[in-house]
Amino acid sequence: MSERQGTTVIKGGRVVDATGERAADVLVQHGQILAVGPDLDGDAVIDAGGCIVAPGLVDLHSHLREPGKEEAETVETGARGAALGGYTAILAMPNTTPAIDSAGVVREVLELGASAPCDVHTSGAITVGRAGQQLAPMAEMAALGVRIFTDDGAGVQDNRLMRRAMEYASGLGVTLAQHCEDDALCGGGHMHEGAWSSRLGIPGQPAEAEELMVMRDIALARLTGARIHFQHLSTAGSVRMVAEAKAAGLLVTAEATPHHFTLTDACCASYDPVFKVNPPLRTDADVAAVKAALASGAIDAIATDHAPHTTEDKEQPFDEAPPGMLGLETALALALTELDLPIAQILALLSWRPAAILGIGHVHGGPVAEGAPANLCVIDPSATWVVDPVALASRSRNTPFAGRTLRGKVRHTLLHGEPVVLDGVAQR
Ligand code: DOR
Repeated sequence: MSERQGTTVIKGGRVVDATGERAADVLVQHGQILAVGPDLDGDAVIDAGGCIVAPGLVDLHSHLREPGKEEAETVETGARGAALGGYTAILAMPNTTPAIDSAGVVREVLELGASAPCDVHTSGAITVGRAGQQLAPMAEMAALGVRIFTDDGAGVQDNRLMRRAMEYASGLGVTLAQHCEDDALCGGGHMHEGAWSSRLGIPGQPAEAEELMVMRDIALARLTGARIHFQHLSTAGSVRMVAEAKAAGLLVTAEATPHHFTLTDACCASYDPVFKVNPPLRTDADVAAVKAALASGAIDAIATDHAPHTTEDKEQPFDEAPPGMLGLETALALALTELDLPIAQILALLSWRPAAILGIGHVHGGPVAEGAPANLCVIDPSATWVVDPVALASRSRNTPFAGRTLRGKVRHTLLHGEPVVLDGVAQR
């Protein structure tokens, strides 16, 4: 048997990772990178001419809807969309039915993800049933590898309980992630509170509803020394506070979504619920602040908040429709199209920084180097395409970007050395 049997070479691309950029072929065998360099040969050839070869993307925020809402998405369909979007690892959110708040449900989600076309990690809920009343059994979930705990879809409202959660999480060495929203202030609101909500007659949620919780959690992180990750930050005030907390040396990280750096509350003028999301689309000034924070590093990661909803659920009147929009298949292209940043910085936000936050940097997001796991994506940075909801792999269709022309397309994705996407087509 030849030493090179079963090798695949990714040929003619430009490798971009945390160590820099270089023209190189990448040779893969048995799930690992065998060599990176010029003029490599393999049994199979994957063309990367004119493309970027990068570590696979990592999403910190995917709603996969399983168990409980399989008509909107399953772990498998969500993971397929992720692979098509260039992701090799995603983190499932716990607002399923039942919630992912025990070892049993964690095990179920991990089993569903075991055969998926990207690595599926799961978060665990901070509180039982995400009800905000009592702490969930975080230790038994951590024992199964859960590294991020969140009640996402809701923030933990009770200050004392959040303090206890931080103390408990610190002891376990895990990270708490917060959906920052003060329920009392948001109550009854369906979009950002401001000039547009007044004009449209839609009750609003003030920016302060997010910012108060960011402020509280920074104070509690200072008190407890805990690690806290802020999810989907959307306001200028939030990103300013996070930047200050980082400068003060607190263990704080943050993410922002593609929709919060591309869309504003003005979109709601259509009364189309596809633009309804939590936290809500904000103002031009907020979008500018989020973009600046992505550029400065005050926000560490782009996370999708991929939130599939069935057409039946989403096509209700604005005030009755559930919040959320699809994200996994458009995130990279939105970043490449809308952010005026070097590609290495965009990939840092989408790959190696989120991998580090999730604690999987040894498997995903790492340098493209000999001996590393072959979790890779190949991106054509100049290809343009038009978002067609019907063509998405997701079971749902609720993308606010339908009809938009985007630049940057994932050509291939390799998961543990296996091509799961080739020429933009899912292989399983
Ligand atoms: O818009 C949202 N949708 N925000 C969330 O926090 C939850 C998510 C969902 O699960 O649909």
